[in-house]
Amino acid sequence: MNHHVYIVDDEREVRLTLGEFLGGLGLEVHTFATGREAVDAALVEVPDLVLLDVNLPDISGLQVLAQLHAAHPNLPCVMITGGFTSKTVVEAMKLGASEFLIKPINLEQLRLVLEKVQRETRERLQMEVLQQQQGNGRFSTIMSESVAMKRALSATSKVAASSANVVLIRGETGTGKELFARALHFESPRADQSFIEVNCSAIPPQLLESELFGHEKGSFTDAKERKIGLIERAHGGTFFLDEIGDMDFNLQAKILRVLEERAVRRVGGDRMIPVDIRFVAATHKNLDEMIQQHVFREDLYFRLSVIVLDLPPLRERGEDVILLANYFLKRFCREHAHIVKGFTPSALEAIRSYGWPGNVRELRNAIERAVLIEADDWVDVDHLGLWRRRANREQGQEGQSRQRIGYDFEIPEDGFSLEEFEKVILARAMKKSRYNVSRAARMLGLSRETMRYRIKKHELQLD
Ligand SMILES: Nc1ncnc2c1ncn2[C@@H]1O[C@H](COP(=O)(O)OP(=O)(O)OP(=O)(O)O)[C@@H](O)[C@H]1O
Ligand SMILES: [Mg+2]
Repeated sequence: MNHHVYIVDDEREVRLTLGEFLGGLGLEVHTFATGREAVDAALVEVPDLVLLDVNLPDISGLQVLAQLHAAHPNLPCVMITGGFTSKTVVEAMKLGASEFLIKPINLEQLRLVLEKVQRETRERLQMEVLQQQQGNGRFSTIMSESVAMKRALSATSKVAASSANVVLIRGETGTGKELFARALHFESPRADQSFIEVNCSAIPPQLLESELFGHEKGSFTDAKERKIGLIERAHGGTFFLDEIGDMDFNLQAKILRVLEERAVRRVGGDRMIPVDIRFVAATHKNLDEMIQQHVFREDLYFRLSVIVLDLPPLRERGEDVILLANYFLKRFCREHAHIVKGFTPSALEAIRSYGWPGNVRELRNAIERAVLIEADDWVDVDHLGLWRRRANREQGQEGQSRQRIGYDFEIPEDGFSLEEFEKVILARAMKKSRYNVSRAARMLGLSRETMRYRIKKHELQLD
């Protein structure tokens, strides 16, 4: 886990011995004889762990520790020295030192300390992921004012608290199915157990079965070890099967079996292993039609559709679209540290009247783009790029306008300068946009910042 370690010590011998030992464990090691060099280097590339001598010739190890932690509060630092006074230990602990080692360093002890630090780092990262997921899975993060959504939310909250253990979420793309699946978990009595999510369309069908059910050692050529499947891992918690409409017909039967028997059988295994899960499935597809076409199993559908949450499309949510637009505007201004005052009346009108076929996700993307690269003080209609979205859709494919220019030229045998070519294109875009950087950036699909950077790099004229 720790790939990159700094050793900061003015004694060459210590640097060599520790460096060789850690290098031998497969870690990438950088050594420094002074504190200043280490602090500077950490600004450029953050290590995963620092072994830090307390007595350094330039600034003290404690100062180095303080400066490293000012920039990277979670960076694990292990202090080393010939002898600690209790004052240094207390001081170093206050500054967040992870461990202490006394010289001459016992290498076995160093290995144990490394393992401990690695374990702590891993646990901290897992906690962070968990907290992020939870933050992302509460009802409070789901914005809604409309009657349709309030109804969906209230149904979800009842189901979350109930003992219902099979739930189907339906809704067009981008309506918030995943958000609701998370809320169903994190607002349920199972919230402190695992939430495991699998997207059927993201995993090739031939791998999906062993991902879901696991396998016993030797059950097929590549099964070198026993593997616990994801359904089994969700035991006690929630298993979210996203895009179930994309699941292979044969596998559907195996899922049905799990739902009926509340147990899984690993591939190549002969035992049924009981699992206690809440099973949540989602799809944007019309399963009724798929049943007619014999690509979705009717028996599975019956089993899934006892409790169905239907998420309404954005166009049927009335003023929710404005509520969400303002919410995303605030959020992206905060995330990207941009100040945009709000929407112009015509932008609001356009947001209301546009159909948003990509629902909340499309709205979110339009607003993030507007905040990041289009708008200055106010978001206006043009900044939302709605005409572009519509046009792309009508043409049936994003980026068709590209075909208007020919890319069909030969690279000369003696080569050609991409840099020079870039300069020419940038200059043309600047000229065409009448030297408006934002507009030129948009023409080339670049952010304003990137455009500015490249203009500077090529020393282009600004007017
Ligand atoms: N009511 C809402 N409040 C705040 N954010 C929302 C809301 N609904 C959706 N979002 C956001 O919109 C985006 C799309 O939502 P989500 O991924 O849950 O949709 P989905 O229905 O699973 O889409 P797809 O079918 O394309 O997978 C996410 O970034 C989500 O956080
Ligand atoms: Mg989804």
